Amino acid sequence: MRKISIGILGATGTVGQMFVQMLDGHPWFEVTELAASDRSAGKSYGELMRSRWSAGAEIPEYARDMVVKECHPGLDCSIVFSALDSDVAGGIEEEFANHGYAVSTNARNHRMDADVPISIPEINPEHLGLIERQRTRRGSKGFIITNGNCSTISFCMGLKPLYDAFGVEKAVVTTLQALSGAGYPGVPSLDIVGNVIPFINGEEEKMQSEPLKIFGRLSGGAIRNAGFAISATCTRVGVVNGHTESVSVKLSRKADPDEVIEAWEDFNPLAGLGLPSSPRRPITYTRESDRPQPRKDASAGNGMTTVIGRLRECSILDYKFVLLGHNLVRGAAGSAILNAEMLVKQGYIDGQSIGK
Ligand SMILES: NC(=O)c1ccc[n+]([C@@H]2O[C@H](COP(=O)([O-])OP(=O)(O)OC[C@H]3O[C@@H](n4cnc5c(N)ncnc54)[C@H](OP(=O)(O)O)[C@@H]3O)[C@@H](O)[C@H]2O)c1
Repeated sequence: MRKISIGILGATGTVGQMFVQMLDGHPWFEVTELAASDRSAGKSYGELMRSRWSAGAEIPEYARDMVVKECHPGLDCSIVFSALDSDVAGGIEEEFANHGYAVSTNARNHRMDADVPISIPEINPEHLGLIERQRTRRGSKGFIITNGNCSTISFCMGLKPLYDAFGVEKAVVTTLQALSGAGYPGVPSLDIVGNVIPFINGEEEKMQSEPLKIFGRLSGGAIRNAGFAISATCTRVGVVNGHTESVSVKLSRKADPDEVIEAWEDFNPLAGLGLPSSPRRPITYTRESDRPQPRKDASAGNGMTTVIGRLRECSILDYKFVLLGHNLVRGAAGSAILNAEMLVKQGYIDGQSIGK
């Protein structure tokens, strides 16, 4: 198969670096363009990132001599992965989609647009059907698909098997979110060392609204949101990578603990599709009483697996448990790449480079 050409917008940031790292040697995709702000444009990626690189031991060889460009259509690629700051992502992504590019983004700007899916391939692959509606609106073959917020994605992964098997009526979630979720340089060290910050701007609103769209039903070209209630508290903690979440749920029908664990362990809807970034198991349940922990579990399934543990009865709702997801991988770059693989699988990408 001829590889599909990829551009990375925001390639110098925390998530952008993870794209550069994860796409090294990808069997379907080849990075042909790196782009960032005009502060970075015109410089070689290796030179720019010498003191900023944090996504792995070394900058992948393919990227070192690439010259970083500005984020304007004209880039020679057919898919763009966007890791742009949300202050600028909205307009730039719109421009790329209108010029015929497939845009797979981490930024929040377009998540609630009526014809833009918040895509999680294990949960709502049929939502990609919105792309045709978007193409009609734009008069272009280009489109935008988004990831959920980094905490939302793992939260939804944990809920989905329960939602399908027993129904979910209510969920209460408290997050302990890693520092890398705030980008670079992020939270000042004097604010976070020996401390917990009980507020992340806009995060609780995203966790309470995005899952309802993600679990929604596509009908007549529009998504009808799911109807359960979510209450979220989001905190920042002194962890480098990996968002931990304490979740309590009220189910629509009774289930015993073994059935709940079985629902998680049997969940593997992408098995057999051959998507390169799909982990062997999207969810693992750990029976260790002190897990999951970010340091030990964030890299499960190359960072693509949601690790769940500590299932207990809840004296207010039905069950409570702890889950963990890697915010830069499953919560950002890895999910956007998996989304693009699903686009290829479903025939939405023809692989022809735009902007040549
Ligand atoms: N970190 C996470 O865990 C996470 C998870 C999910 C989603 N997200 C979302 O992903 C996006 C990137 O997050 P991040 O943590 O990687 O942020 P970051 O480290 O601050 O990186 C931001 C990137 O945007 C570029 N940029 C800033 N202003 C620009 C402009 N005017 N024109 C073009 N490029 C510009 C920067 O380029 P320069 O280096 O040239 O300034 C940099 O490459 C955000 O929308 C964030 O909300 C992050």
